[in-house]
Amino acid sequence: MNVLSAMAGINDGEYCKRFTDEGVDVITLGGFNLDLETFKAGLENMTNDRKEFITCPHHITEDISGFVDVIRDYNSSWDGLISVNLRASSKDSFKVLYGNDDIDIFEINAHCRQQPMLSAGTGQALLKNTTLLSEILEEVTSNSGKDVGVKIRANVEGVDILKIVELINTYNVKYLHVDAMKEGVPEADYDILNRIASNTSIHIIGNNSVTSREDYEKMIENGASSVSVARAARDGSIKHIFTE
Ligand SMILES: Cc1cc2nc3c(=O)[nH]c(=O)nc-3n(C[C@H](O)[C@H](O)[C@H](O)COP(=O)(O)O)c2cc1C
Repeated sequence: MNVLSAMAGINDGEYCKRFTDEGVDVITLGGFNLDLETFKAGLENMTNDRKEFITCPHHITEDISGFVDVIRDYNSSWDGLISVNLRASSKDSFKVLYGNDDIDIFEINAHCRQQPMLSAGTGQALLKNTTLLSEILEEVTSNSGKDVGVKIRANVEGVDILKIVELINTYNVKYLHVDAMKEGVPEADYDILNRIASNTSIHIIGNNSVTSREDYEKMIENGASSVSVARAARDGSIKHIFTE
């Protein structure tokens, strides 16, 4: 499966639609901020020059449906999946999207590392707050009616990522999206990806620094079942990565 990875403030319908012609099977919209705490964190992120979707939590259902319509109208023959990358500070925040039949995958964001997001208790903060992570997993896997993915960052100081994987293994999670970034290294940390893959039977989406078919294949060789790209998609076509 070929995945377009989340880019807050960028991955809307207009931006994503062209990837339906580029071998992408899963388009990730967002990240989106689902509640007041994460919404405020998004506003703060913007003052630090980051792009965000500043969509009021009350309008998020329509906004996402609008994005999906743009994609499906652009290419009605595309039969790929729509994933939404979601930041939330409580388990109940996810409920706002349960009625969106146009969403296939809820991707729980345990990945973003900007300070405002960490202060709001979302993103990478969930890797250190396993009580909240468990509550969210329990709620979303039991009640959302969606396929559930979790996006994790592999090399976070003070986090035993294999313990997190062990926890995620106990829920009905379909996709484990692994950003295998290693600080100061220009390529993915294939070793950690391999170790994560050896500790789960969940479908792994390998992520980080994939810009070529060779990078893609290395991800697969190291335990990923699928591969995702984000920044490479900003440079133009990603067809060369996703098609042999
Ligand atoms: C501008 C930008 C915004 C991003 N926003 C999000 C986000 O909201 N949620 C998320 O899980 N990852 C986000 N990411 C991370 C990417 O999805 C991806 O994990 C990361 O860039 C590494 O993959 P790459 O080397 O293919 O870019 C963002 C990345 C960029 C460059």
